Amino acid sequence: MNPLPVIIGNRKTPVSPRSPRALLLLYAAVLLGMPLHAETLRDLAGRRSVGIGAAVDAKALRDNAEYRTVLGREFNMVVAENAMKMWIQPERGKFSFSDADEIVAFAQSNKMRVRGHTLVWHQSLPRWFETGSWTRAETLSVLSQHIASVVGHYKGAVYAWDVVNEAVEDDGSMRKTVWLDRIGPDYLDHAFRLAHAADPKARLFYNDYSAEWPNKKADAILAMVTRMKKDGVPIHGVGFQCHFDCGKYPGPAEFAANMNRFSALGLEVQVTELDVGIAQPATDDKRAFQARVYRDIIDAACRATNCTAVLTWGFTDKYSWKAAVEALPFDRRFKPKPAYDAIRDGLTQ
Ligand code: XIL
Repeated sequence: MNPLPVIIGNRKTPVSPRSPRALLLLYAAVLLGMPLHAETLRDLAGRRSVGIGAAVDAKALRDNAEYRTVLGREFNMVVAENAMKMWIQPERGKFSFSDADEIVAFAQSNKMRVRGHTLVWHQSLPRWFETGSWTRAETLSVLSQHIASVVGHYKGAVYAWDVVNEAVEDDGSMRKTVWLDRIGPDYLDHAFRLAHAADPKARLFYNDYSAEWPNKKADAILAMVTRMKKDGVPIHGVGFQCHFDCGKYPGPAEFAANMNRFSALGLEVQVTELDVGIAQPATDDKRAFQARVYRDIIDAACRATNCTAVLTWGFTDKYSWKAAVEALPFDRRFKPKPAYDAIRDGLTQ
């Protein structure tokens, strides 16, 4: 019989069922309460042809070997948590690609796809652009140079871009950002057309939060992308961020039905930034509830038509913008939490 790959703790080890050493290893792992799995998340997701990804912190990737091991083992997709935001152009016309390049190189050597995040947002802007007074023509020229340079640099390496992030307010109006202020509401159309020109094969997404429910914001985004499609703007998908806590999150049927309103337009949908905060202090009960939320969201993604990927916003509480609320599927010591098992359940249901 061939050796079977078994994940013991954080290592994928080939175990021959007849070897006494292997049996001893398994016995020790069970005694120590280490998780044992035959397949990783990416094995399970691969079988359903869905992307399973995580946002990557460039510094953690560089500094921490365990981070690299777990990331490469469990996920088949990555997105840069911060490294591809507009501050990748720290001075006008000068680009600093090194952090993002490292993430892309890691993805390529681990056969992972890369989502690009994000070309147009109102946060993480370089100072030179955030301040000062700008005409519409100048701002359009910055937009054009930024998108051509960044999308061009990653042409063929980044398969999908969040072209515009968070352009709509909760009440359904356009968010008042530097982009809206300096260019006007057609900045989105320009951004998508420029991204398409820079890499015609890239999948282009609009990405936002609090649109997981059929509320005013989701309705406004639906109307906006419907109009874009009608006008021939190259948009291929909508990302639902899914930053939740254990109190407020959509039920799976409700979320799937909401995603289907978008896929009915011929768009892909993705869960792009999933995390689920726990009110502190965390208890086993709360961790179990967190797992249920993860499970429900994976369930929604599996039920929805044309939901092509689910990404968590980080994967370990050690490196997380929500470290204080332990929002991710691995704990600070990279030990899988009940939320990790819930993702597995969701992917195997
Ligand atoms: C967050 C990062 O996780 C933080 O490290 C950073 O300080 C701020 O941005 N929605 C998004 C992401 O689209 O880009 C944000 O990422 C989280 C909310």
